[in-house]
Amino acid sequence: MSESVFPGLSLGVQELRASEIRELLKLIARPEIISFAGGIPDPAIFPLEAIGASYQRVLADPAQAKEAFQYSISEGYVPLREWIAGYLKTHGIETGIERILITSGAQQAIDFLGRALINPGDSVVVTSPSYLGAIQVFNTYQPKFLSVPMDNEGVLLDQLEAAFKQKPKFFYLTPDFCNPAGITTSLARREAILELAHQYGVAILEDSPYEELRYENQRIPSFAALEQRYLAGPDSDGRRLVVYIGSLSKVLTPALRIGWINADPSLINKLVLLKQASDLHCSTINQMVACDIAKASHAGQVQKLRKAYKERRDVMLEALERCLPKEVSFTRPDGGMFIWLEFPEGIDGAELLAEAVKDTHVAFVPGSAFYATDAKRNTARLSFSLGEPARIREGIERLAALLQNKLRSNRAA
Ligand SMILES: Cc1ncc(COP(=O)(O)O)c(C=O)c1O
Repeated sequence: MSESVFPGLSLGVQELRASEIRELLKLIARPEIISFAGGIPDPAIFPLEAIGASYQRVLADPAQAKEAFQYSISEGYVPLREWIAGYLKTHGIETGIERILITSGAQQAIDFLGRALINPGDSVVVTSPSYLGAIQVFNTYQPKFLSVPMDNEGVLLDQLEAAFKQKPKFFYLTPDFCNPAGITTSLARREAILELAHQYGVAILEDSPYEELRYENQRIPSFAALEQRYLAGPDSDGRRLVVYIGSLSKVLTPALRIGWINADPSLINKLVLLKQASDLHCSTINQMVACDIAKASHAGQVQKLRKAYKERRDVMLEALERCLPKEVSFTRPDGGMFIWLEFPEGIDGAELLAEAVKDTHVAFVPGSAFYATDAKRNTARLSFSLGEPARIREGIERLAALLQNKLRSNRAA
């Protein structure tokens, strides 16, 4: 029997689909499964003591407690926006609170930007592959996706330019250790992308939740920082096209739901109205607590996370290098949480997941979920943010053995 459809659903919402792999991923909660599917921060590293102490402090002060449980302004808690402005300044982005809107995580920022910028049928450019949550939410605004493939320095410039010629509304990307592929856009590529964006007048939506999770090599300036240098230079066209999306989810905790947009006030002022229409404002107490712990613990958290995740990444890379059949390629991310596998043609990531869960008790996310168009089915995303190094090693060894067998039987067939 076909699924019933509620009468009158908008076209954008009719397009929303539960992922085909969702049911399979439910199985991975079983303790015997070694899962590389998650892509979430390790809860053992959440700054729980600092968070608890901060809630207590607010509650213990009657004046603060009254403010904390009251409605507040849609732009976001002023001291938190001041902290974000100071934080961005340390990374070469000169800004002020009038350029910053607090959102319910980076996810709401992406949603608002889609809603503010896309008319049905507009073109938008995304990387191929791209963050699933962005593809899904943009889809509800019915754009035409233009997907641009990447090499290990980021998107391919000739294809990006061809896409920009179609007058898209924006180019959405995650420049550092992107979800899902782990690729970082190089400095040279960022400069060239920025130049193209200004040449064709295309906004860049720069989504940077993983920026601090760098395990080696120098930090690369963000598009927002590079654009400021460009705007101060002699060739500037005076337009601010970069929209920077930040988040505290990966460094502090996702549960506070604190993200932000840093952009030109002409855009921020409209987004504030969207925020008002959508949910009025982010939780006042959560913003106060986030501000408190960001001030006290952000730098320390970054150090802890880098140490823990770097070890896990290294273990996963070593095991992949040692055990994977040579026909399978994988990325070597400088940071973040993800490694991307590409199998020989004919090996389907979703089918492999079903076998891996059943036969070897290992899980990952099939890569096809991460494409807006032209999905490559012979791909997979592995996350290394959770799990003991020994289990990561064990999981990769099992997955590699399954792949060896599969390739052997494919060759024999
Ligand atoms: C690239 C990317 N953007 C945005 C988000 C959403 O983050 P937040 O918790 O800040 O909403 C995620 C979460 O995994 C992500 O990977």
